[in-house]
Amino acid sequence: MKIITPRNCRLAMMLAGMLLAGAAVAEPDGKSEPVAPKAKDHPLKEIWSGYHFQSEETRAQQDDADANPAMEHYKAGEKFWSKVAGKSKKSCSSCHGDAAKSMRGAGTRFPLYYPISKRMINVEDRINLCREKFMGAKPWDLGSKELLALSVFVKRQSLGARVTPQTSGPAANFFDKGKTFYTTRRGQLDMACTHCHDKYAGKKLRGLTLTQGQSNGYPAYRKTPGKTVSLGQQINACLIRVRAAPLAAGSEDLLNLETYLAWRGQGLPVETPAVRE
Ligand code: HEC
Ligand code: HEC
Repeated sequence: MKIITPRNCRLAMMLAGMLLAGAAVAEPDGKSEPVAPKAKDHPLKEIWSGYHFQSEETRAQQDDADANPAMEHYKAGEKFWSKVAGKSKKSCSSCHGDAAKSMRGAGTRFPLYYPISKRMINVEDRINLCREKFMGAKPWDLGSKELLALSVFVKRQSLGARVTPQTSGPAANFFDKGKTFYTTRRGQLDMACTHCHDKYAGKKLRGLTLTQGQSNGYPAYRKTPGKTVSLGQQINACLIRVRAAPLAAGSEDLLNLETYLAWRGQGLPVETPAVRE
């Protein structure tokens, strides 16, 4: 992506000011490896998980389930998994049994095209659909601690499995829209996702090392602001960073963007819940 044109020369200067001379990124500790993109039109030469750009301490925290602050949500999710709810008096486990078996791989597939609502849905949406359709229970609020807990629990069953997104067939149109969103400038800073995450990964931005903005670790614990956030919440934090309007939780724009992010990170291992600075 060519970033310096007369039109955005001011932006380039501003960005250059924000980016300190990026210190070389620490070498992976043996567990983080780049993935070669399959698609010819992929914006990255190598696909790296955000894990690669974290300090040794942060990586160790992610790797140790007892030290990973987001694991409290996993434990809560484990309890919800077998908790009976709704008119049908069923729990998730009544139908799905042992999550380690039935949910293995689920965290690699989403967002998926859902024909009934004719749009892409993520794991959070899928859980709520099961509650509504199969349990006769009220869907949880997006952003609720229940949904956060179960989405961490479900996605972690795919720990280490490779992200294999759906971007063709009925998903293609939504993928295209996500890509357009990703590359469109917005907000007072007039910047697109691609400016920070395709071009400047590895550089410092206000004390943080910019990553490629991959989604394979979400929901993830963020040391700033010190809580576990969903992918949608992380994307909104980035929109706010460029002084653009955040997207409504569960909106089509957000799901299209999640679809594009999954393609961009195709082949990365699921790391939920990741720990990030
Ligand atoms: C009455 C049975 C039933 C209950 C209870 C139920 N589900 Fe489901 N679930 C299904 C069926 C059937 C599917 C497959 C649906 C489809 O393909 O359209 C499914 C699909 C899923 C998927 C997608 C799996 C994949 O590999 O793509 C997830 C995730 C999921 N359920 C999570 C949950 C959670 C979490 C709960 C508890 C809150 C739950 N389900 C409760 C029947 C149920
Ligand atoms: C001004 C630069 C900037 C822009 C523009 C920006 N981000 Fe970010 N983004 C960041 C910073 C800083 C972080 C935290 C450090 C990191 O992971 O890069 C971050 C983190 C992320 C992460 C988490 C990555 C991980 O491994 O934890 C995702 C996903 C993400 N951004 C997606 C987006 C999307 C989608 C857009 C466009 C809507 C966007 N970003 C626009 C600066 C930006």
